[in-house]
Amino acid sequence: MAGIDYSERIPNNVSLADNRRLQRALEEWHPKFLDWWMQMGPDGFQAKDVYLRTAVSVDAQGWAQFDYVKMPEYRWGLFLAEPEAGRTIGFGDHMGAPAWQDVPGEYRGVLRRLIVTQGDTEPASVEQQRHLGRTCPSLYDLRNLFQINVEEGRHLWAMVYLLDAYFGRDGREESEALLQRRSGDRDKPRILGAFNEKTPDWLSYLMFTYFTDRDGKYQLASLAESGFDPLSRTCRFMLTEEAHHLFVGETGIGRVVQRTCELMREAKTDDVRRLGGIDLATLQRYINFHYSVSLDLFGSEISTNAANFYTMGLKGRFEEGKKRDDHRLKDTTYAVSELTGDRITTREAPALPSLNERLRDDYIADCQRGLDRWNQVIKKHEIDQELRLPHRGFHRAIGLFAEVKVAPDGRVLSEAEWDARKHEWLPTEADQAYVESLMQPVTEIARFANWIAPPARGVNGRPVEFEYVRLA
Ligand SMILES: [Fe+2]
Ligand SMILES: [Fe+2]
Repeated sequence: MAGIDYSERIPNNVSLADNRRLQRALEEWHPKFLDWWMQMGPDGFQAKDVYLRTAVSVDAQGWAQFDYVKMPEYRWGLFLAEPEAGRTIGFGDHMGAPAWQDVPGEYRGVLRRLIVTQGDTEPASVEQQRHLGRTCPSLYDLRNLFQINVEEGRHLWAMVYLLDAYFGRDGREESEALLQRRSGDRDKPRILGAFNEKTPDWLSYLMFTYFTDRDGKYQLASLAESGFDPLSRTCRFMLTEEAHHLFVGETGIGRVVQRTCELMREAKTDDVRRLGGIDLATLQRYINFHYSVSLDLFGSEISTNAANFYTMGLKGRFEEGKKRDDHRLKDTTYAVSELTGDRITTREAPALPSLNERLRDDYIADCQRGLDRWNQVIKKHEIDQELRLPHRGFHRAIGLFAEVKVAPDGRVLSEAEWDARKHEWLPTEADQAYVESLMQPVTEIARFANWIAPPARGVNGRPVEFEYVRLA
């Protein structure tokens, strides 16, 4: 069961061969996916051999195999985590009932929307990153970019499988639409705001993989709690792949910080731009931007949708299974932010409609861990500075804080104050132009761009100086 059948056109562990209707639907979708990949996937590298991992099993140990693959030949497939015998619904009104193996009729529309919204982010990020290959800081980084891209493609497959297998004709229409929307397109944009932003350079990309992919982790983790078992199992396996994306973001930014500190020490200055590095002040502005747009992805502080998803048993809390309460939350409260004049305070709100805020809190704590690690790097270089997460109200477009302007330290500002100071806090055009000027491709084996340190180790036990992408 854990093994994946690679003799089929679509590798899978869902016994696809036994379901001819579904198999046909997916085989019809496959060439359309490939068309989309060729049009919107990594620009300029489709014919190159890339040292990629491919899922070969859903076991925690040894689930992946590494080899050179041309990206369009990547074996995208359908992999669900092993079923849990006797699994029951862990929260909401249906708590304790057997997990659903089919879509509960009354929740069909809501569930489809949840799956489509998650599914839409996957191809969106591939589209956002499609030009980055041309300015890679090393072959190692280039390979990691492509690994993430093919896996986001596989995550699209994972959601399309659910749509095609469980939602009939509507599901097939949604599968088509997932290939038709385009990141940043005015007429057919992707569903969520952050996925229509540009990822114009590698610093933005590393920030995206740290902050925005981490939103993905929290969304997937709460969908992994779902009472709809196929969704739960799909998301559990996706989380295994997602961990690598977060690793790329965390170590990537860590390596930039490392290089910045080396240059600061060498030249005894904060102004490392002269030396072709990215100064800490610029890094801080990029953090502020990517963190704040990612916070918006969790939605409004108070949300009846979030309450309904939970009560219906469709979307749980982060690590729902580990929590020791009644898993219904009808009589409990949760602390959410509140604006009182120009002061930000908290109040106790009913727990169910506050679930977005709770998930955002889990996310914020997780984000802080990376900052702590980067600050360790700065400290090791005996530099007396710190990177910080801005206040949750900073630069927000959704929810309570969309109405006000908030400084990184949490002070509520007048429009005039905000306008006068926002360039200190968000990447300016000059920052972007500078970062862009650094984006010169480095493609010799074992060489790295000057603005980023080499990684501590290579991929899958290979040395750092390995030909991760064959460009010749
Ligand atoms: Fe993904
Ligand atoms: Fe991801």
